[in-house]
Amino acid sequence: MSAHGDPVPMTARKGAALTGVADVPGDKSISHRSLILGAMAVGETVITGLLEGQDVLDTAKAMRAFGAEVSRDAEGVWHVHGVGVGGFAEPEDVIDCGNSGTGVRLIMGTMATTPISATFTGDASLRSRPMARVTDPLALFGASAVGRRGGRLPMTITGAAAPLPVRYTTPVPSAQVKSAVLLAGLNAPGQTVVIEAEATRDHTERMLAGFGAEITTEITQEGRVITLTGQPELKPQTIVVPRDPSSAAFPVCAALIVEGSDVLVPNIGLNPTRAGLFETLREMGADLTYENLREEGGEPVADLRARYSPDMKGIEVPPERAASMIDEYPILSVVAANAEGPTVMRGVKELRVKESDRIDAMAVGLRAAGIEVEDGPDWWIVHGKGPGGVEGGVTVATHLDHRIAMSFLCAGLASRQPVTVDDAGPIATSFPVFEPLMRGLGARLDRVNQAG
Ligand code: S3P
Repeated sequence: MSAHGDPVPMTARKGAALTGVADVPGDKSISHRSLILGAMAVGETVITGLLEGQDVLDTAKAMRAFGAEVSRDAEGVWHVHGVGVGGFAEPEDVIDCGNSGTGVRLIMGTMATTPISATFTGDASLRSRPMARVTDPLALFGASAVGRRGGRLPMTITGAAAPLPVRYTTPVPSAQVKSAVLLAGLNAPGQTVVIEAEATRDHTERMLAGFGAEITTEITQEGRVITLTGQPELKPQTIVVPRDPSSAAFPVCAALIVEGSDVLVPNIGLNPTRAGLFETLREMGADLTYENLREEGGEPVADLRARYSPDMKGIEVPPERAASMIDEYPILSVVAANAEGPTVMRGVKELRVKESDRIDAMAVGLRAAGIEVEDGPDWWIVHGKGPGGVEGGVTVATHLDHRIAMSFLCAGLASRQPVTVDDAGPIATSFPVFEPLMRGLGARLDRVNQAG
């Protein structure tokens, strides 16, 4: 599977139960941050379990372009020789972040307080996504940005020569915006403060502390107030990347909707800023258990066991949970279609500016597959028809969005007629082994050209 190049149409069909163990790859968010903070430290950081998806490989390449030495030893084992905070060199060429909003936004933040210029671009999906949410706060540090209309890539950022620390309240619940500001704050003197009304994933804060930065989080009336003291010397680390709960979501949800399934997904991080989907599924009546619950590297970890759950009911997902499961709404909507009654999802405006407009992409495909979906600017409702209620027999457009592709392939494993996605290629951005892993559990996935 390739993230770039010709489309890879793929069909999913109903078959036998899904059974066995699903070893999902490393966490995408933590993988990006390991490379970026490794590049900001002085000395050698060793990373194991790095996700070798295209998004992360693009970030590794970018770190090299800014002067860090990045090398791969073995599968998932990477070394980064950092250049120190403020030590980035000016790249000689355009930085292509491919499909990755996280990559481009975090890297923009990291270089914005160093007096160099860099031009960023990406694929058609990334070039359509808003960057002002990051360049607005970076301007407060003294950085400037020139891009296409609407704050779109390609875009050139010139970092501040004499950066000022910033106090910034994020206008949207976004870990990418929060992280871009914190990473910019690394090379500003004094204290940079980010305030977020709703908690978003906190991997940047945890990892900055791990690398030796002075960073505190206070819960106040305004929300989470994160204070970082600038210009630390970051000490290189040995990082073991936990497995990605957002990738685990696919075999877990597929097992819940495919008759007779019983799947174990070991070693999944259950950081509360990421685990909203699993809580939601349990509230819907999913037979999903946490086995061997333990702590690893300061994070709760468990083996997830998912069994076929024919009695799931639609629920109203609490809007305050949205940030902790923002990437999981597409696959949740597939489970919702196979549950009885409506599942109501509110407070999810951010879904409209992901790799695709995810509400629209899922609504169009699910409607074509026989499910009633209502939607508005920041909400949608999926009217589930119970087990086997999805008709299928459709080809859906995935809009260069890995999670749309994986969601519809999971839908096709439980629908009456097959479901085809027009392009499974982007799955390689986050879950390069999705196809063999799902086949190993018994899933019937066929590349359309191979199946004839
Ligand atoms: C991510 C943050 C989220 C998420 C993305 C990864 C991160 O985006 O959707 O897949 O690693 O910081 P936003 O911060 O834009 O919500």
